[in-house]
Amino acid sequence: MREKWWKKSVVYQIYPKSFQDTNGDGIGDIQGIIRHLDYLNNLGVNMIWLCPINVSPMKDNGYDIADYYQVDPSFGTNEDLEELVRCANTYGMKIIMDLVVNHCSDQHKWFQEAVEEPDSKYASYFIIEETDGNEPNNIRSYNGTSAWERIGDSNRFYFHAFAKEQPDLNWENKSLREEIINMMKFWQKKGIAGFRIDAIGNLKKSKATFERKVFEPDGSDGMISAEPFILMQEGIEEYLRELRDEVFDKYDMFTVAEVNVPENKISEFIGENGLFSTVFDFSYTDLDIEKIGGKEWKRNWTVKELKEKIFQSQNMIQRCGWGSPYLENHDQPRSVNKYIPEKDLGYESKTALATLYFFLRGTPFIYQGQELGMENYPFKCIEEMRDQFAVDRYEQAEKCGEDARKVFDYLRVRGRDNARTPMQWNTDSYAGFSTVIPWIDVNPDYVSINAQQLTEPKSVFGYYKEMIRLRNKSEYAETLTYGDFRAIVTEEDNFICYSRYDERYEIIIMINFGTDMISLPNELKAGKVLLNNRRENDGTLHSYQAIVMVREK
Ligand code: NOJ
Repeated sequence: MREKWWKKSVVYQIYPKSFQDTNGDGIGDIQGIIRHLDYLNNLGVNMIWLCPINVSPMKDNGYDIADYYQVDPSFGTNEDLEELVRCANTYGMKIIMDLVVNHCSDQHKWFQEAVEEPDSKYASYFIIEETDGNEPNNIRSYNGTSAWERIGDSNRFYFHAFAKEQPDLNWENKSLREEIINMMKFWQKKGIAGFRIDAIGNLKKSKATFERKVFEPDGSDGMISAEPFILMQEGIEEYLRELRDEVFDKYDMFTVAEVNVPENKISEFIGENGLFSTVFDFSYTDLDIEKIGGKEWKRNWTVKELKEKIFQSQNMIQRCGWGSPYLENHDQPRSVNKYIPEKDLGYESKTALATLYFFLRGTPFIYQGQELGMENYPFKCIEEMRDQFAVDRYEQAEKCGEDARKVFDYLRVRGRDNARTPMQWNTDSYAGFSTVIPWIDVNPDYVSINAQQLTEPKSVFGYYKEMIRLRNKSEYAETLTYGDFRAIVTEEDNFICYSRYDERYEIIIMINFGTDMISLPNELKAGKVLLNNRRENDGTLHSYQAIVMVREK
């Protein structure tokens, strides 16, 4: 196993807009992150992933970049970012950035020029098709609207996989690729240690994407999902190899790609000479949704399924590379609401869930507020939501005569704004996030769920801190980092058990992910307990009990 600096890391994801406002505009900023480096150091994380901070009209909160070289003024300046990198480094923390290069903003000067000057070199930076007046075809964007948008009143249409304000970049174009590579080097020189790479599976478009025809629709809106046309298409590796050879490998960067890789491709993506350090696996974070008629809806799932998906994922990744266990991010609702029935929510269930994923093999990720056990926002109507994706989906439903209430009910529990509400620092007004009304409402539960719990004996924060210490700083750090993963399969559906082992230790992670008691088989009773989220240690696992136990070999 090749040793790498990033294998010893625990990543903390920051959604800058919602972390800490210091200049009184209701929007989080880079100085706010600097202010809380102490907090992050106390938690024990050693890498920070910053969601996009570049200049952006914020149609998709920064995932629509209008200037790749400048920090958006609402977050601060390039100097603030440099200061953040310097200060974080003094704590031994690295900073990675979001790399959003499948698309940019329609406000980017490249796009504006492409629109105004059909013959300019920038027109070929985008995917623009001229027709006799109709959209080239009926492909649907991920946002639920047509993937083609007319330019002004011309017969030119541009392709966008996401919102219409996010035109896709044309990766076939060598000059575009060079621009992107130069931009990545620019940030590397500023001390950025790696990238989380956004929507990367969509870079290569199949020929059919440009066909002039009406494809057989897969939904009542008459459109067809973009996935079969643009996701993980043959030849995408060529572009990714360029990024790896020119930037990632040259500077020993950590890279995590947002892409669901099929099993037959995984070794190419994360193997020994893989394209990335690791990729996010969506299989167990998306187990509560399914696609019907091209749109996502909630589905019922079981703990047995969750367990199987996690085990499958670990086994697949272990065969060739390195994982990135995570439960939450800015596109997911709060994990405690997703995985734990409402009646069971509490310290034990939240820490059981944390134990379940944190010791899996890979570089673990924690999303801001997850370490406090933050919960979903109690949305009452669509007007309270800020996410363009949710608004588009809702409006599209109204337009197509779908049941908009049903769509809202889905968004209420699954919408992305659930995890984008302000970080809950304390019981001051606006949870200490800001002194003015924030850009999105603070969850009213901040009076009890906030970072003041730090010093309480039974705090979710304290538990996370202890998990991080065990993984990074204890005698067992080597085993918990590099040790192999082994699924321990038992009869009980709610009993999730696995181990991490090497020549010295076997560390067993046992979770009762339910309320009925589980008696442990004799072979799982003996060992030294490293972590226990309840007081009992009597050979049974009580309601939502999690125990981490070590045995010397
Ligand atoms: C994935 C990002 O995580 C999400 O927030 C964004 O909306 C899309 N990619 C488009 O960039």
